[in-house]
Amino acid sequence: METSTAPTQPVPLHPGLPFLGNTLAFLRNPLGTLDTLQRNHDRLVHLRIGGRHQYLVLQPEDAKHILQENHRNYGRSPAFDILKIFLGNGLLTSDGDFWRRQRRLAQPAFHRQKLAALTQTMISETADWIDELSGHNLKEPVNVSQAFMDVTMRIVCKTLFGSDTNGKLDGLSNALDTLNYLANNRMLSPLRFPYSWPTPNNQRSKRARMQVDSFIFGLIDERRKALDERDDLLGMLLSAEDEETGERMSNQQLRDESVTIFSAGHETTAVSMAWTIHLLTKHPDVLARLKAESQSVLGDARTPPPEAFRALTYTMQVVQESLRLYPPAWIMSRRAHQNDHVGPYTIPAGDTALVCPYLLHRDPANWPNPDRFDPERFAPGGLKDRLHSYAYLPFGGGPRLCIGNQFALMEMQILLALFVRRFTPKAAGNQRIVPKPLITLRPNQAIRAVLE
Ligand code: HEM
Repeated sequence: METSTAPTQPVPLHPGLPFLGNTLAFLRNPLGTLDTLQRNHDRLVHLRIGGRHQYLVLQPEDAKHILQENHRNYGRSPAFDILKIFLGNGLLTSDGDFWRRQRRLAQPAFHRQKLAALTQTMISETADWIDELSGHNLKEPVNVSQAFMDVTMRIVCKTLFGSDTNGKLDGLSNALDTLNYLANNRMLSPLRFPYSWPTPNNQRSKRARMQVDSFIFGLIDERRKALDERDDLLGMLLSAEDEETGERMSNQQLRDESVTIFSAGHETTAVSMAWTIHLLTKHPDVLARLKAESQSVLGDARTPPPEAFRALTYTMQVVQESLRLYPPAWIMSRRAHQNDHVGPYTIPAGDTALVCPYLLHRDPANWPNPDRFDPERFAPGGLKDRLHSYAYLPFGGGPRLCIGNQFALMEMQILLALFVRRFTPKAAGNQRIVPKPLITLRPNQAIRAVLE
């Protein structure tokens, strides 16, 4: 943490309107504005958005400084307070010592060996979903965005709660989804009524919350009484013990972490899969190579064994390149506790630092032809291996690196390989798809494709 008062240069201020600063530009065209910033500034740029001073970093070294080297100087920005109403005090919303302890407790559940136990669930849920999709009239375009939302939701519920969701999955996933949707809505809305007011949205979210809480608390109760250890995520969190203190999570913490994992873990993956299919409809050469790989590596087995997926190297390159062009978590914000020096500049205490994977992933200085979809960038020994590690950060970095990154990559590899083995997606009509940066970087409209 730096508190020095050494004289520094003022951070270049991006011109804006009196009072409103850069707010309107960001509301009207956030990605276009980011592009302008990248072309006109080279290290750090000072923005005024929503009455706050925000400092956007443009270089991977500075992203590393904020997320990793000087991470203790930075906390969650106020935007996360809204999420707290819905997610509680889980990994995504908490800070400081509480977060550190929760992360220590939850981390082992996401270790590679533990994930192996969840991979089988991912494969069988994907195989069921593909059979269902095949049952549709395949001449009609399919809403690919919705289809991936459905399957990632099933996967996250099954990997979290295991067979306890049997027969209850629809009710539970609808309630969790309502909660998630209303949280996003509230974060993006300029007009926020207090949560205690009985507005229709507040009432809906309270009902959904009661349903989710009664399911999760009921389940925790049953599991504690049964004393049997399950290898789903909830089972792992229930048995997690703090190495330093021997403490375990309380029921409330287990609830908050479960809802957080659901919320952080399904929409991001679904959106990224929809983008990947969109890219494949535009790049038949990549699709053909992908299909050939999945057919030769996986053969005909309906549910290939988990170890088979490890050999799908080109599939992983496609996933990584898709995450480069369309990183679902397109921007991350942090509030500085103390003044922080970044090169010749200072980020003042109380202001916000912005790290934007979308921008860093499209910096032409690192990524030639940045808008071109080219999975070869991620081939072993390829361009990515030669770049600064923070030139590519779809899962963030430093101690707050996405805890589900291996889970997500595994899931996307399975979804993509089994999907292209069965279907050849073709664009439906002339959809003009452009990215729309909400909380996640979504397509501006649902992606539809004919699945041949
Ligand atoms: C393509 C899919 C995903 C992407 C792009 C993604 C991206 C991210 C990013 C960038 C962060 C860091 C945010 C920050 O530093 O402010 C994050 C945090 C987090 N992610 Fe993911 N994520 C994905 C999937 C998942 C999955 C599948 C899970 C769980 C199963 C998950 C759980 C979490 C949690 C709990 C955090 C908070 C970690 C902490 O602060 O300790 N994510 N994710």
